[in-house]
Amino acid sequence: MKIAIVGTGYVGLVSGTCFAEMGTDVFCVDVNEEKIANLNKGILPIYEPGLEEMVLRNKEAGRLHFVTDLSSCLNEVEVVFSAVGTPPDEDGSADLRYVLEVARTVGRYMEKHLLIVTKSTVPVGTARKVRQVIQEELDKRHSSLTFDVASNPEFLKEGAAIKDFMSPDRIVVGVESDRARELMTRLYRPFLLNNFRVIFMDVPSAEMTKYAANAMLATRISFMNDIANLCEIVGADVNMVRKGIGSDIRIGHRFLYPGCGYGGSCFPKDVKALIKTASKHGYPMRILQAVEEVNESQKSILFRKLQQHIGDLQGKRIAIWGLAFKPETDDMREAPSLVVIRKLLEAGCQVVAFDPEAMDEARRRLGNEIDYAKDMYDAVVDAEALLLLTEWKVFRLPSWAAIHKLMARPLVIDGRNIYDMVEMQEYGFEYYCIGR
Ligand SMILES: NC(=O)c1ccc[n+]([C@@H]2O[C@H](COP(=O)([O-])OP(=O)(O)OC[C@H]3O[C@@H](n4cnc5c(N)ncnc54)[C@H](O)[C@@H]3O)[C@@H](O)[C@H]2O)c1
Repeated sequence: MKIAIVGTGYVGLVSGTCFAEMGTDVFCVDVNEEKIANLNKGILPIYEPGLEEMVLRNKEAGRLHFVTDLSSCLNEVEVVFSAVGTPPDEDGSADLRYVLEVARTVGRYMEKHLLIVTKSTVPVGTARKVRQVIQEELDKRHSSLTFDVASNPEFLKEGAAIKDFMSPDRIVVGVESDRARELMTRLYRPFLLNNFRVIFMDVPSAEMTKYAANAMLATRISFMNDIANLCEIVGADVNMVRKGIGSDIRIGHRFLYPGCGYGGSCFPKDVKALIKTASKHGYPMRILQAVEEVNESQKSILFRKLQQHIGDLQGKRIAIWGLAFKPETDDMREAPSLVVIRKLLEAGCQVVAFDPEAMDEARRRLGNEIDYAKDMYDAVVDAEALLLLTEWKVFRLPSWAAIHKLMARPLVIDGRNIYDMVEMQEYGFEYYCIGR
């Protein structure tokens, strides 16, 4: 089968490559000419474990093509996936400009029946808008061509995207016709040979499922952050509380880690967009408003702890480990590190940072506002404090004896609760974390 995937970002590039890995012929389309030129040279725009070799292998095998113009491949394919960005609008709702632009191009240039699948995260009702835009373009051409629309929200996690796509927990597909259902079944069957975990449903429910999933995960994080903050006040240890509640099978252990707030390209914007969708329908999402409020405050918690223990921060050299919004990615969209760095700079600190993969991205975003260390030990030289923001594996068991000698003041604030409190004290550190 031949398919096109429009938008060659995290979702489009990973999905396209994984479909190609299963033998599908895939055209990855992006309007960003530099991105496509680089991909044609084998240079990837993102860091994602395992992706580079898979892209190169499938490109080499002639199953993965990178093009800038959807119209050039539109009539070779049976299915067009739209995986373009849906950034927040000024008011927080999802900006559908790119999704509808893809629909317009499809309507303008299609010459045969097509299935158009929205993979981007979009509010309920978007498939209807996509259908309308395509139909308007067909009407302009006096064309009687038919087409199907479907919704297939993506649940991959950056940092584990290949694994998530190749062996998904489930695949959600919203369809309106048997023809669309049959095509989607053919496309996904190779991923689920011994247990076909595609959940077919109506299109609005599929669109809603993605937002509900992200909103639930964000809620768990903010809930645990609130519990952690209270633990500190009343003298409880949130790690113990987490274990205690996680072992209840109704609750489960995952996504119960307190920290310095959630970030990334999805949770913040999707929570905002869902609140907005609800308010447009006159319904206030009270829980999600609180989830957002807790998260905003939590992003500054390391800064507040630092201020509490150091006092005046003017001129202080502060080391940061971890810039990406989570490990195994170089993505810094909405990362808590950006909020902390901004606050440190405003307070007159000299910030020196290290991240195993996000240094280029940080340079692009922060330029010469901060110093960039050559490794994690270089970052702590003469620092008055070390803040851990992203729990990369390389940060989990550092040589504390060496770090103690390098720092000007042995103060560590652990935003991800990954170090042992007693051990840190034994090494002679002033050690603070979240909720303990
Ligand atoms: N990143 C994730 O982990 C993730 C996970 C699940 C769902 N999603 C959702 O998937 C969608 C895409 O996210 P992403 O992180 O891959 O975005 P991204 O910003 O990394 O990539 C989007 C790409 O679309 C391209 N584009 C924009 N308009 C275009 C057009 N008209 N034609 C062709 N290309 C166009 C951009 O140049 C960009 O390369 C969003 O709706 C997001 O919410 C993201």
